[in-house]
Amino acid sequence: MHHFAYRNGVLHAEAVNLLDLARSVGTPFYCYSTATLTRHFDVFAQAFSDVRAIVCYALKANSNQAVIKTLASRGAGADVVSGGELLRARAAGIPPDKIMFSGIGKTAAELALAVDEGILCVNVESEAELELLSSIAAAKARSARVSVRVNPDIDAKTHEKIATGRAENKFGIPISRAREVYALAAKLPGLTVTGVDMHIGSQITKLDPFDNAFALLADFVRTLRGDGHPITHIDLGGGLGIPYGGGTDPPPDPHAYAAVVKSATRDLGCTLIFEPGRVLAGNAGILVTQVLYIKRGERKTFVIVDAGMNDLIRPTLYEAHHEIRPVRERPEASGVTVDVVGPVCESGDFLALDRTMNQPDPGDLLAVMSAGAYGAVEASTYNTRPLIPEVLVREGEWALVRPRLAAASLIALDRLPPWL
Ligand code: LLP
Repeated sequence: MHHFAYRNGVLHAEAVNLLDLARSVGTPFYCYSTATLTRHFDVFAQAFSDVRAIVCYALKANSNQAVIKTLASRGAGADVVSGGELLRARAAGIPPDKIMFSGIGKTAAELALAVDEGILCVNVESEAELELLSSIAAAKARSARVSVRVNPDIDAKTHEKIATGRAENKFGIPISRAREVYALAAKLPGLTVTGVDMHIGSQITKLDPFDNAFALLADFVRTLRGDGHPITHIDLGGGLGIPYGGGTDPPPDPHAYAAVVKSATRDLGCTLIFEPGRVLAGNAGILVTQVLYIKRGERKTFVIVDAGMNDLIRPTLYEAHHEIRPVRERPEASGVTVDVVGPVCESGDFLALDRTMNQPDPGDLLAVMSAGAYGAVEASTYNTRPLIPEVLVREGEWALVRPRLAAASLIALDRLPPWL
């Protein structure tokens, strides 16, 4: 469900005409819908309204201040994975007691920031991190709330680059060894053990990996309580997939996911913490790009557009499918099969391969759908292509929430040594 639809033959973001918006901000640009963001948050939160739950939006999906604030205004907390994201969450007004800090490589400075801010919980991923956090908190005469991220060795049945819960992945502590780590945590100064954490992967479209993982997690909570640890929360991570179209598997809806969560955790009396990213932001954003040229190769026809892999890396990095729609609706004609490619000097620079669509003309605008999560945040300036603007729409209004950067400002970041 999203709020990008045709009105009088032109694709709109809510009530904003995307042809007009493109004239104002230029192409390419990202465009986000407030109504979609808030609807997704509300549906997710409502699925858990009958239990104690905190929904900590995974900032990594889209960390624009306007997006974070929009979700925070509905009650979202934050799941952060760097000091930078922690500062972003705080800047957007998310209170420390709704901030989780995840990630395997937190630095001493980042852990110190978490302690100083007094956040809800640090998800610790190794013994060494636990010891470092203990020494930092103890030196400040503080106590940091911690949970240990456990790795259940479960296949999330998603793309290998975004599966995180298998034994060969770098994430978490093997569940078989995690008991010892809790024993260590209980002994170390400066730590309060409050929970258990797990995140098995992203874009998960089947319920059984969740089901299996949550059953293990619930059993583990019982074991820990038996060992005397007062576990009061379970962090179930994120990972719920979204529909990307194109024959990819449709995911379960949040209510079906909630039923699986509740059946595993019902008798534990724990607060449930969630870290959803994509399911909140993914279908709330699109990338609008202009067709520059059509080129007929010997084997393929290329639709060359002004957005590239530096703007949206998902198609080439994860072989991800994104629907591509013309901004000006075209009557259904016989489709052509094309590659939609960007201007970056790499053969991996594409938005779609072998896509059947109504062949666009140069100057036409195309909307790359479902680009609200892991789009703008994964952009780079490769080929000295400045970061593109982000726009947030609310009904008939829009606002530039990040301006287009200029090449000059990129060049100005470089410094010359004295000998040049
Ligand atoms: N919590 C942790 C600890 C995570 O590592 C992640 C995602 C999430 C929550 C949020 O997962 P979500 O609900 O969004 O699935 N760039 C990739 C996805 C990377 C996911 C990384 N971790 C992509 O574009 O598919």
